[in-house]
Amino acid sequence: MKFDTPASRNPIDRLKVVGQPTARIDGPLKTTGTATYAYEQHNAAPGAAYGYIVGAGIAKGRIESIDVDRAKAAPGVLGIVTAANAGKLGVGAFYVARALAGPDVDHYHQAVAIVVAETFEQARAAAHLVRVRYARGEGSFDLEQARGKKPAQQPLQQKRFADTAVGDFDGAFAAAPVTLDATYTTPDHGHAMMEPHATIAAWHGDKLTLWTAIQLVSWGMRDVAKTLDIPKENIRIVSPYIGGGFGGKGSILADAVLAAVAAKQIGRPVKVTLQRALMFNNTTHRAATIQRIRIGAGNDGRITAIGHESWSGNLGNQPEFATAPTRMLYAGANRMTRLRVAHLDLPEANAMRAPGETPGMMALEIAMDEMAEKLGLDPVAFRILNDTLVDPEAPQRPFSKRQFVECLQTGAERFGWKARSARPAMRREGRWMIGMGVAAAIRGAPVAKSAASVRLDNRGTVIVETDMTDIGTGSYTIIAQTAAEMLGVGLDKVTVRLGDSTFPEGAGSGGQWGAASSTAGVYAACVKLREMIAQRLGMTSTDIEFIGGRVRAGGLSRPLLDAVAAGELVAQDFMEYGDLARRFAQQTFGAHFAEVAVDSATGEIRIRRMLAVCAAGRILNPLAARSQIIGGMTMGAGAALMEELVVDKRIGFFVNHDLASYEVPVHADIPHQEVIFLDEVDPTAGPLKAKGVGELGISGVPAAIANAVYNATGIRVRDYPVTLDKLL
Ligand code: MOS
Repeated sequence: MKFDTPASRNPIDRLKVVGQPTARIDGPLKTTGTATYAYEQHNAAPGAAYGYIVGAGIAKGRIESIDVDRAKAAPGVLGIVTAANAGKLGVGAFYVARALAGPDVDHYHQAVAIVVAETFEQARAAAHLVRVRYARGEGSFDLEQARGKKPAQQPLQQKRFADTAVGDFDGAFAAAPVTLDATYTTPDHGHAMMEPHATIAAWHGDKLTLWTAIQLVSWGMRDVAKTLDIPKENIRIVSPYIGGGFGGKGSILADAVLAAVAAKQIGRPVKVTLQRALMFNNTTHRAATIQRIRIGAGNDGRITAIGHESWSGNLGNQPEFATAPTRMLYAGANRMTRLRVAHLDLPEANAMRAPGETPGMMALEIAMDEMAEKLGLDPVAFRILNDTLVDPEAPQRPFSKRQFVECLQTGAERFGWKARSARPAMRREGRWMIGMGVAAAIRGAPVAKSAASVRLDNRGTVIVETDMTDIGTGSYTIIAQTAAEMLGVGLDKVTVRLGDSTFPEGAGSGGQWGAASSTAGVYAACVKLREMIAQRLGMTSTDIEFIGGRVRAGGLSRPLLDAVAAGELVAQDFMEYGDLARRFAQQTFGAHFAEVAVDSATGEIRIRRMLAVCAAGRILNPLAARSQIIGGMTMGAGAALMEELVVDKRIGFFVNHDLASYEVPVHADIPHQEVIFLDEVDPTAGPLKAKGVGELGISGVPAAIANAVYNATGIRVRDYPVTLDKLL
């Protein structure tokens, strides 16, 4: 089915199930420990041996020799894979780092060997007996230095990463009566998801099955085929439950590749999980950025020039797209953006929750706060004044929906923004200095082709299958809601099966396109199934309705079950998209408000309240969507105040590679959080008229908090994270 005109009325609009706050149907399985995560698929691959990865002890250089003799002789050891016996390995298309070092080492903790043994403890013990001699090489580990040295290398072939220019930025900036020219930095971030990367690999002849934790099963299929040079038809990937991804499980990494190679070598299934210490330097991370922002405005507060330049390390095969939000968010006739990539020998940087918007908004939204102050304008009013209803780079292209101003106004009202002092460092409560901050949120709302099958069995159960994943986001539930609405049955009649490459290819979880796209595929399959049911029942009237377990048309009403008396029915279809995304700028919007207290003696920062107001199309499940937003706000609080992968610039690795020293927020750091969704239905976004929220929730949050710290203290921190040492 093709979606190329804005959606008109359809069965989803009844909102009997879709749009209702619905507890996740997989919740009980998760809270009782019965949801089977990759590492727990014991029954699927009985007799699996255990693999333990040895990570490189240098960041850059060569392996001179690996001595595996002692490890091989250790109790229980079944095999050891190194570059010497692994065969030729390619690289993936999404993550592009090599899974196995040798002879060259590309980054610290890159796998140099995987030791396989009967038990995990045996594999771990033997792994410590592997002796590697390295020849250390010179590496580039410092973004500030690297961007100055090399003429920025340009893996920026894709058109969307090209420099942009509208009007005469330089002239307008020079002429503007009020200007800001400031540089902001954001550090490397780790995904630090709860479930480590894990895979069980099993071969049956030349057929490979991987039970693994992956966000996009189809990307995994492509990348396994490419890495191992085997046909896609010989691969099966199973990933029904995933303990967090955030972009770090977009496709396959060393655990999957090396489990497959090791399983082949020892002729037995092999299970591998990355030990927590390898989660930071062996996988991927969000790239650090250096961003220069220039804004010029008239005395009336209208932006006349806006420029954003960003430098980042090597992001797989692309830059960190930090300039993306600046291209869309505010009006201004003269504009420029520029992305530059510096070569670094750190682990591969790649997507992390709202890649582009997250670091980009960390800079842009402090800059907007600084500019408002220079203009003597309230930061909410300044943003409203510079709203635009068309794409500022292509004025003939309107936003499909843009309730940005409404988000700001609703939030200001609800948060009690009036109480904020325009002058910083004016509000005290005992030793605490109190401040409020605001920031915008924006994140793209793409859709992707997605297929599903829907079966009605002879007991009236609806079984939905698609290789879409649920990374903790609630996919199971919204997909069940969609099928229930379309077929007029209760949620208890719907079974959803996800994350298996033998199912029709879904959109996968990425770029916050999963919710709208995967439900659209289910919608398409349900439309087809409804036609099959109607035909069986001989009910062809156009007023046909599926409701309450019955089918009604032309004054007749029959139980749905009658349609399957002669055998079950299965329909499969997909939704793909026409050119609406070219005609409309499709984005989600929000406004974040934060109140902080800063200890005037120690600089300790406590967040007191947070509010998000979001406009993101129809909200399919307000309960799950709220959870997504507060998850994003929490991650944003981490980015604001604590998260930073600290680079040892001599040796070239992330020093704090564990959850004790890579600090993420805990409950005590997170105060009252409130989320408001504005009423919105976006008929250009697909049949569900919904957009994603999983990444909108983090966009802008760090800046709202940084701006609140400024309002509390009068100290402007432009280098994240905003830690207390920067306030003293
Ligand atoms: Mo995402 S960072 O597109 O999983």
